[in-house]
Amino acid sequence: MKINLTVNGHAVALDVAPHRTLGDVLRNDLGLTGVREGCSTGDCGACTVLFNGTPIVSCLMLIPDAEGASVVTIEGLTKDGRPDPMQAAFVEKGAVQCGFCIPGMILASKAEDVPEGNLCRCTGYKKIQEAIREERRRTRPQA
Ligand code: FES
Ligand code: FES
Repeated sequence: MKINLTVNGHAVALDVAPHRTLGDVLRNDLGLTGVREGCSTGDCGACTVLFNGTPIVSCLMLIPDAEGASVVTIEGLTKDGRPDPMQAAFVEKGAVQCGFCIPGMILASKAEDVPEGNLCRCTGYKKIQEAIREERRRTRPQA
């Protein structure tokens, strides 16, 4: 079936089977490998993308439901070769611990003060929380 959506600011027209998920199409058809698939059951948050500005788990969204949407993946955060402030804070605070869950963590952190749907299985949340606080301090000093 034909699907039209916007991905990282670019209009995309696809012809895909309707049973496929948004995460699968982003990663395997569009080559956006920052979209990780961990659990495939909506539990880990590794596949998080911003969907019309809201974090969603892309492993649970069927591609027909993305018709007309605006989707942002981790690849879409970098502007003119410069990292997004949240990406920079994660690097500075040593919060990029494994690389697998971090794209989803960063995207969720852009929209939520405490991203509760993103699991870390390796090291813990201390540095991740420090990075989010640092980004908030820099970008929302009045908050
Ligand atoms: S892969 Fe989607 S929530 Fe885990
Ligand atoms: S930082 Fe990815 S599992 Fe801990």
